[in-house]
Amino acid sequence: MNSPRPVLVVGASGYVGSRVARGLAADGVPVLAAARHELPERVTVQAGVIAVRAPEVSALPDAVRAACARAGSPLPGAVVASIGGWRKGAALLDLEPSRWSATLASHLTAHLDAARALAPLLEPGDPYVVLNGAASREAMAGSGAISVTGAGLAMLVQVLRLESTGPRFHELVIDHAVAGDDRNQDPAQTRSPAQVVRALGELLDDPGAPAVRHV
Ligand SMILES: NC(=O)c1ccc[n+]([C@@H]2O[C@H](COP(=O)([O-])OP(=O)(O)OC[C@H]3O[C@@H](n4cnc5c(N)ncnc54)[C@H](OP(=O)(O)O)[C@@H]3O)[C@@H](O)[C@H]2O)c1
Repeated sequence: MNSPRPVLVVGASGYVGSRVARGLAADGVPVLAAARHELPERVTVQAGVIAVRAPEVSALPDAVRAACARAGSPLPGAVVASIGGWRKGAALLDLEPSRWSATLASHLTAHLDAARALAPLLEPGDPYVVLNGAASREAMAGSGAISVTGAGLAMLVQVLRLESTGPRFHELVIDHAVAGDDRNQDPAQTRSPAQVVRALGELLDDPGAPAVRHV
């Protein structure tokens, strides 16, 4: 029997990405955990996880092919992009121009770069899921750049989906802080990593899943 194609998690060094990689693998889904830096041990000790290191997104396809060849794994059959994150800082008009540019790069352009690099690895109809957060739907004081890039990311996924002749693009919006991430101070509600992984699994498994899902 052929081994199943793994799910490629981009941003697997991050708070959510590391938990998604670990959670999918714990459910028996083979995972390629991709990051620019060293992956946390909680990811690499999990059976079923193959680590992929690439200093930038454009280098990921070659790094993925090499890691799959070394591990005797097929190429990925799905991508989960967990790139970006949330932080609170200065009001938009007080934000350093360099911080604005850095947020555009990490929270929006990096997603387009990832889709451009990784969509060709997938087969038509394979899922490509982009994670997004509550700031994409709700203006948040002190997180202006993240709200603006999050809103742009939602539209980016819609356009990619409309234009795609390859993978089916989806956006998974995590509407609340992910439990345990203490960068979120006193969140009104939280979502557990298990809830995120379950919602993700539904998008990955169902070719008829909606373009946008909230959890
Ligand atoms: N944490 C939460 O409570 C929460 C709640 C709701 C939604 N979310 C969503 O979950 C997703 C991930 O957030 P997070 O909290 O896990 O963020 P995080 O801990 O800050 O991790 C961000 C990840 O993005 C990667 N990254 C940043 N810039 C990149 C670039 N230019 N190219 C490639 N990778 C890049 C980082 O890689 P490096 O380590 O290499 O820098 C890191 O792996 C976001 O869409 C966020 O909106 C998070």
